[in-house]
Amino acid sequence: MQKVLVTGGTGYIGSHTIVDLINSGFEPISIDNLSNSDEKALAGIRKITGKRVKNYRVDGCDLKKTRQVFEKNPGIVGIIHFAALKSVEESVFQPLRYFRNNNDSLLNILSCAQEFGVPNVIFSSSCSVYGNAKELPVTEATPFQEAECPYARTKQMGEKIIEDFTKVTPTVRAICLRYFNPAGAHESALIGESPRTKASNLVPVITETAFGKRPTMTVFGHDYDTRDGSCVRDYIHVMDLAAAHTACLRYLMGGKNTAPSEIFNVGIGDGVTVLEAINAFEKVSGQKLNYQLGPRRAGDVVSIYANRDKAERLLGWVPKRGIEEIMQTAWAWEKVRG
Ligand code: NAD
Ligand code: WQD
Repeated sequence: MQKVLVTGGTGYIGSHTIVDLINSGFEPISIDNLSNSDEKALAGIRKITGKRVKNYRVDGCDLKKTRQVFEKNPGIVGIIHFAALKSVEESVFQPLRYFRNNNDSLLNILSCAQEFGVPNVIFSSSCSVYGNAKELPVTEATPFQEAECPYARTKQMGEKIIEDFTKVTPTVRAICLRYFNPAGAHESALIGESPRTKASNLVPVITETAFGKRPTMTVFGHDYDTRDGSCVRDYIHVMDLAAAHTACLRYLMGGKNTAPSEIFNVGIGDGVTVLEAINAFEKVSGQKLNYQLGPRRAGDVVSIYANRDKAERLLGWVPKRGIEEIMQTAWAWEKVRG
């Protein structure tokens, strides 16, 4: 079986992608320092797939230890690099920690890809690279605006580092996937999102409120120029997102890439407002949510959603799930993790 190294493999998107890789016949190996996860996800992966996945508890910023993982695992066909710190708010107050963690780990992964002859790299980028985009939906050609926070800047920088590196490294080709708003959980409710830090993203805030972990929640802004006054986002189910990584791997392994590094938007291609997301939750759960309309949140863009034509055309990737499946699976996961 072909080995794929997944950094951040015990984290939210990494663990779901490992399931999709196993179901597609790959043998994933994980590197995760557990700074924002624990190894419980590996037990969930085992129950879903019947396969045991090894996690190396290694910091991707430690080149020596990262190299050792490659030495112990010859013949890796691809790296999917999820490992990063991802809190927008935290990054504003700890910029050096974010630059060090996200950039150093990427540099180490690229240098290992080169040294150990790993031909394919996939990088977790983010729609936050677009900043306050001037056109909607955003395409891969929509220019970057000023990054809204150091976290987003690490993703802009990561993409540029990969572009410069692959241009002069013919043995390595790469894809940067710009995720929109990942949400939901595996249909089994055996894995899902369980960060060490307090959730601030909309979907976990909704399910935590419904479960009673929070007394209430606030809709940040109700007087925007949108169809119901609340912000518009592109929520992508985490299993559809996982499938996009496997599609990229096959695309690169088949030599179908059209440039040394390529970029794809990974969103559903449609905007959903905060109030529509809440309505979808109430519909699938049969439960009224305790929320109030409140002031705008600093730094929020009004609307952003993807044009995903390029991923469909070149990767053959089409998302299968919408906001209701997101809410259904996120709610099932919330009730299991308690
Ligand atoms: P996550 O925090 O659940 O997973 C990231 C994993 O990486 C964690 O398990 C953490 O312990 C690990 N990690 C962090 N730094 C590390 C290091 N130096 N060495 C080894 N392991 C390290 O986050 P996620 O939501 O699964 O995000 C995965 C990737 O996708 C990240 O790069 C993130 O920036 C990106 N992304 C996430 C979202 C989102 O909303 N979840 C959106 C766009 C992009
Ligand atoms: C979604 C909408 C909020 C919580 C962030 C990062 C981005 C990317 C995805 C990593 C917004 C509203 C939220 C609440 C609310 N991550 N909301 N009440 O801000 O679109 O994107 O995650 O790359 O970089 O910035 O996601 O889930 O925080 O917010 O009304 O309690 O829900 O205002 O309109 P966001 P989010």
